[in-house]
Amino acid sequence: MSTLWHGRFDGDPAGELMAYTASIGFDVRLAPDDIAGSRAHVRMLGRVGLLSEAEAAEVLGALDQTEAELASGDFAFAPGDEDIHTAIERRVTELAGVAGARLHTGRSRNDQVATALRLFAKRELAAIAADVIALQQVLLERAIGAGNAYLPGYTHLQRAQPVLLAHHLLAHGWALARDVDRLADARARMDVSPLGAGAVAGSSLPLDPDMTAAELGFAARFENSIDAVSDRDFAAESLFALTMLAVHLSRLGEEIVFWTSEEAGFAALDDAYATGSSMLPQKKNPDIAELARAKAGRLIGNLTGLLATLKGLPLAYNRDLQEDKEPLFDAVDQVRLGVRAMAGLMSTIAFNTEAMAAAADAPTAAATDLAEHLVANGMPFRDAHAIVGGLVRRSLDGEGSLADLVRGDPRLGAAAAELLAPGVPVTRRTTPGGAGPHSVRAQIARFRTRLTADADRFEPGS
Ligand code: ARG
Repeated sequence: MSTLWHGRFDGDPAGELMAYTASIGFDVRLAPDDIAGSRAHVRMLGRVGLLSEAEAAEVLGALDQTEAELASGDFAFAPGDEDIHTAIERRVTELAGVAGARLHTGRSRNDQVATALRLFAKRELAAIAADVIALQQVLLERAIGAGNAYLPGYTHLQRAQPVLLAHHLLAHGWALARDVDRLADARARMDVSPLGAGAVAGSSLPLDPDMTAAELGFAARFENSIDAVSDRDFAAESLFALTMLAVHLSRLGEEIVFWTSEEAGFAALDDAYATGSSMLPQKKNPDIAELARAKAGRLIGNLTGLLATLKGLPLAYNRDLQEDKEPLFDAVDQVRLGVRAMAGLMSTIAFNTEAMAAAADAPTAAATDLAEHLVANGMPFRDAHAIVGGLVRRSLDGEGSLADLVRGDPRLGAAAAELLAPGVPVTRRTTPGGAGPHSVRAQIARFRTRLTADADRFEPGS
């Protein structure tokens, strides 16, 4: 078996060594990024005179063919191909002979791998951001369509105050807006090319890392070759941004599980986004929502696993760093599927606004409004709270309906009792950013503006 590093070794590597250390099984998905990095490197080598024009053209041609073979499935992997970078270089050397053997001039797999993974992460984070924006668009449309429908807002999962359904939906939307920001931030910070850092110290050859950085579309080149090949903060940061997003999806998932339960009855899933039971014919289960809850745990595992791998590593490259890929690949795949499934689910879910209103119309939901009515008439809030609390307790003790007790109380009276009428309390949430119709109309406009700006940053399908 031939490896790229067999020069100073006697005999073949052990089978167990290859089985344990090879990464080709998963880093094959970095092929397009490795090819892009190799093209930039070869062009740079040509421009600085380390490759003749003819040699550079020959290697670029071999890279084209290798790319085509990988894309069509015709690429023949060899036993010594321990990772995709090795495999591509081997094939290019087979195709371009002496010129191909110059491809790795001034380059190490250490800067090569870091470059490919940054290119991968930049692309995937942008694609996921575009998917998140599509989900936010769904939430916006559903919020607009919800009009003045309202449901209980909860604290401690106890009914607290009525809120517009639109307000509730956009609460998830704003959280996702921060996820888009985090993805953009992480992306901007990782937009630095490590190519040219070599194994650890750069090279004696006249490499031009600025040229390769520009060629690859990076905003800058590395400032320090040791840092360039050794740090994976960009992968960890990507994982955090993805994990936070997954946690947000899990909260939306929990909402759906609760809303679609028979106990709440606030919503019904479209058949295409629900699952059945193998035994119970009547069941319609919210499996997407449940998996959105569960996969957040898996993502947290990916993030903490990578941080544990990085912790305490000496500078610069260590083979430990090969373990950066699987958690990132898995996070990217799972989040992508999750965001898209939730977008489909949310665009098709049917809201039962009558059940929501019925749950929100319990007279006690207006208790705060009664207290605020007294405050508006000059009473200190603590006293108002005590008075209303006393009436609620008397009502619960069976002395009469809250409305009757309010009407009969000289401090409150008939005008205050009207606050208890169905649908009234939510209209009184007028704070900017609050849950009532007037505030929510303004919020929808602001959300739309924000979404349009974000959509300009991340074109869908990019
Ligand atoms: N597959 C390896 C990785 O992902 C390649 C780097 C190996 N470099 C080395 N110096 N042994 O990190």
